Amino acid sequence: MMFKKTFLIVGVLMMLFGACSPTSTQKSDNDIEGKVDALLKEMTLEEKIGQMSQVDPGVFGTPEELKAAIKNGEIGSLLNVFGAENVNELQRTAIEESRMGIPLIIGRDVIHGYRTIFPIPLGMAASWNEDLVRESAAIAAREAASMGINWTFAPMIDVSRDPRWGRIAESAGEDPLLNSMVARAMVQGYQGDDLSDPATIAACAKHYIGYGAAEGGRDYNTTIIPDIYLHNIYMPPFREAVNAGAATVMTAFNDINGIPATGHERNNRQILKNELGFDGFVVSDWASIEEMIAHGYAADGKHAAELALNAAVDMEMSSRTYVNNLEQLLEEGKVKQEWIDDAVRRILRVKFRLGLFDNPYVDVELAEKVLVTDEHLEVAEKLAEESVVLLKNDNNTLPLKKGTKVALVGPLADQPYEQLGTWIFDGDENDSETVLEAFNAYNGENNVAFAEGLAYSRDKSEKGFRDAERAINQSDVVVLVVGEESILSGEAKTLAELKFPGKQNELIELAASKGKPVVMVVMAGRPTGLRQTQDFADAVLYAWHPGTMAGPAIANLVFGEAVPSGKLPVTFPKGEGQVPVYYAHKMSGRPASEENWTHIDEIPVHAVQHSLGNTNHSLDYGFTPLYPFGFGLSYTTFEYSDMNLSSETMTQNDELTITATIKNSGKVTGTEVVQLYTRDLVAFYTRPVRELKDYKRVTLQPGESVQVEFTIGADEIGFYLPDGTYTIEPGDFHVWVAPNAAEGLQNEFEVVE
Ligand code: BGC
Repeated sequence: MMFKKTFLIVGVLMMLFGACSPTSTQKSDNDIEGKVDALLKEMTLEEKIGQMSQVDPGVFGTPEELKAAIKNGEIGSLLNVFGAENVNELQRTAIEESRMGIPLIIGRDVIHGYRTIFPIPLGMAASWNEDLVRESAAIAAREAASMGINWTFAPMIDVSRDPRWGRIAESAGEDPLLNSMVARAMVQGYQGDDLSDPATIAACAKHYIGYGAAEGGRDYNTTIIPDIYLHNIYMPPFREAVNAGAATVMTAFNDINGIPATGHERNNRQILKNELGFDGFVVSDWASIEEMIAHGYAADGKHAAELALNAAVDMEMSSRTYVNNLEQLLEEGKVKQEWIDDAVRRILRVKFRLGLFDNPYVDVELAEKVLVTDEHLEVAEKLAEESVVLLKNDNNTLPLKKGTKVALVGPLADQPYEQLGTWIFDGDENDSETVLEAFNAYNGENNVAFAEGLAYSRDKSEKGFRDAERAINQSDVVVLVVGEESILSGEAKTLAELKFPGKQNELIELAASKGKPVVMVVMAGRPTGLRQTQDFADAVLYAWHPGTMAGPAIANLVFGEAVPSGKLPVTFPKGEGQVPVYYAHKMSGRPASEENWTHIDEIPVHAVQHSLGNTNHSLDYGFTPLYPFGFGLSYTTFEYSDMNLSSETMTQNDELTITATIKNSGKVTGTEVVQLYTRDLVAFYTRPVRELKDYKRVTLQPGESVQVEFTIGADEIGFYLPDGTYTIEPGDFHVWVAPNAAEGLQNEFEVVE
């Protein structure tokens, strides 16, 4: 093998990806900086430290104690305050009764909608529809702002390749580019063009960084992330969020190679603030400063405060190590005044950008006009529809004809709360439309025989099976709505086994035993349950937790009023023993193929060692996942042909245009997400077998063709070296235009010096 020379574009790409294109919120605003300076001059040390402290009234103390602390300038931010009047009252205390009159910034977890609940973020990512994701965040912001909230702890953009981890539900899945899309769309949606607009709120890109790599998928667990992975896999969504103008960033709970993210000076100050040019403020996660003691990194609260401030954490969430120790640490010379001033400057900057000094109060009548409007519900329905992935549709079982006698069975078919998913503090199940309600409305109650079969997803009693059987016997098709309750995914909800809980597998088998077509609709916060059950189903719609409008969205898809277009944002493993399994893996020296592996059941007894060959696979699962990243069927079919490249070579300053024809070869109008992947064949550091570089959504009438065109620049086909510099190596590349990460048309080009 010949070694190739490497182009090192030190610094230049830092500028390209970094701080060279400030958005409106990041534009240096002399006016704001002047005001911040003026305030800083007036503030006492105690008041500065107060700005760096965020508390939850529910844990802080009595309402009187809270007000007294606000009055004394000991608190800069609150989270989890409910109600516009309440917010106004606390805000009034800060403005009128504290010496400096600095408004509070009110934070809340508005993760996938405020009252109108959209699909969980993993579901949103499955839509691959940036415009809709942006719109959902704008709606969430409008609703939240009407309740006095200024700041959401979203988007969560932790690349995650482990479905055991409950928080995969909150992420955009396994791919850096898809997470970057969600990062950009959500930051733009929450913040709009102008943060001081009363309908926008500050975003918070979290959890910086590497949280999704928790060992074993166990939440909060340690992570081992080589720098080359940090820069190429975990950093891109944060880079994108910063470029989109994210007002704040939250540090993560995990440690990375032995250093807690919250105490990671290099990652936080050097990379995030200095190299990426982030000029907003960094908030810790809930007590993650204090938790550095449990990590075995800080000796006590005082030491934790020292480590966190020196590691560029500007605001402390919930724990009180800053308030209790910074003054003394400053006296002892263990922290610098400069870092305290920098932290306060950043916090005040965001408060000014939010317009809080001019317009701190919220109109208490506003919420009534803004929450769960028809317009918001319409967007929620559309996004829910587009987030659903059709994984299987044997004999065109779907869509069903209107009026078909349907048995609607399963523990999630009529659960207004469970369909909302994790992190819905302000969602209201009374707003939800369930699958049962929507089926009755569309298909007519007489054509829907409903039996839940199991009262909830973990139910182990078969008491309801008889009713389910009765419903199935009187129908022509069974639609099973199965999966996980909302509490089974999200924070601290790791599962060691990927299967439907309770007696759902038995219920599915029972349904299949009646000889009628079975449609399985899965509501879950992670990839789960299919290996054991999908053979019993003729069709599978993977719906994640779809939110308020789950019912209408699923009814539309089942009855063909809408055509599935979702594609998987994460690889579906055959089982937990295959995890981690992701499309952008490296090639081993002994790749497996269909020809060179033998299933455990096929191995001859007393087979001689090496007689079966030695390749990179599992004896039981083989080497492919259950479903690849990017996969999703439609009610129509798409043909890919005529792939062309504008040139066979490109220099490191060039662009390359790739075209392919996509034809709707089926009978209904449908939308295809066309994906562009590349592979760098030989590099100084081995590169993944495929990397998603771009994608395009195309909607085609039956018989219609379109030429899809992608342009990639050299800045998209290089990669970051362990020291964070960007390199584009000359040499051969493969390129695919593909319906998913395992198929597609392939071509090649060469990068030349
Ligand atoms: C979570 C964060 C969240 C914070 C505030 C933490 O436990 O990790 O994602 O924003 O709580 O609720």
